[in-house]
Amino acid sequence: MTAPTPLIAGNWKMNGTAASIPEARAVAAHVDGRGVRVAICPPATLIERMSEALAGSAVLVGGQDCHRDASGAFTGDISAEMLADAGASLVILGHSERRAGYGETDELVAAKVRAAVRAGLEPIVCVGETLGQRKAGDALMVVTGQVRGSLPRELDRRAYAVAYEPVWAIGSGLTPTLAEIEEMHTAIRATLRDLFGADGDKPPILYGGSVKPANAAEILHAAEVGGALVGGASLKADDFLAIVNAL
Ligand code: PGA
Repeated sequence: MTAPTPLIAGNWKMNGTAASIPEARAVAAHVDGRGVRVAICPPATLIERMSEALAGSAVLVGGQDCHRDASGAFTGDISAEMLADAGASLVILGHSERRAGYGETDELVAAKVRAAVRAGLEPIVCVGETLGQRKAGDALMVVTGQVRGSLPRELDRRAYAVAYEPVWAIGSGLTPTLAEIEEMHTAIRATLRDLFGADGDKPPILYGGSVKPANAAEILHAAEVGGALVGGASLKADDFLAIVNAL
């Protein structure tokens, strides 16, 4: 089984206006898509403009969340179909900031993953333990449980990625040891094989949480690490490109 093509995705979170589009163009100018897939997930307001700005480049555009339904009376929400219509080809789902801030459960994340599949989007499904769970020795159990609960059968034979993002490493400057990352990614891979058989070898397993140019090379070359989900360091083209080039 050949290793999945690595994916480096930038999660801009609630950052960016039209003035940030040149930053994405600067990334695209230096990415040819060979051996690595690169994506930027801007706020929803920028998806259409960014898709137009990056048309013809190797950089993909993604959303950061979607509703489980295709349309309806859900004020303020955006459906997977709308993201696809605006030019997105991927969507981040189950980010810990959504799980913690909006009470998203594994069941809801799985419903959103089904919505993404329905709309032809490639989901990046996030999982990760809190510091308390890690200290209690529960990290493996929590994360593999999230994988089982958040990945519906509908993903079988579809393109998707899993992102392991320890909650305590996000935006904190802290990262797990390489041994801890490898242990968790190996456990996630075993869970994917258990759920999807040999197809469980196909999705890349990204690491996320305080990835920066200084630590990217060692993290990206760790066992079973198939790319990165990058928050803060994806906002500046130079930093994001340094991470892409660390592969
Ligand atoms: P960070 O965020 O790189 O700023 O830690 C990662 C994420 O939340 O996806």
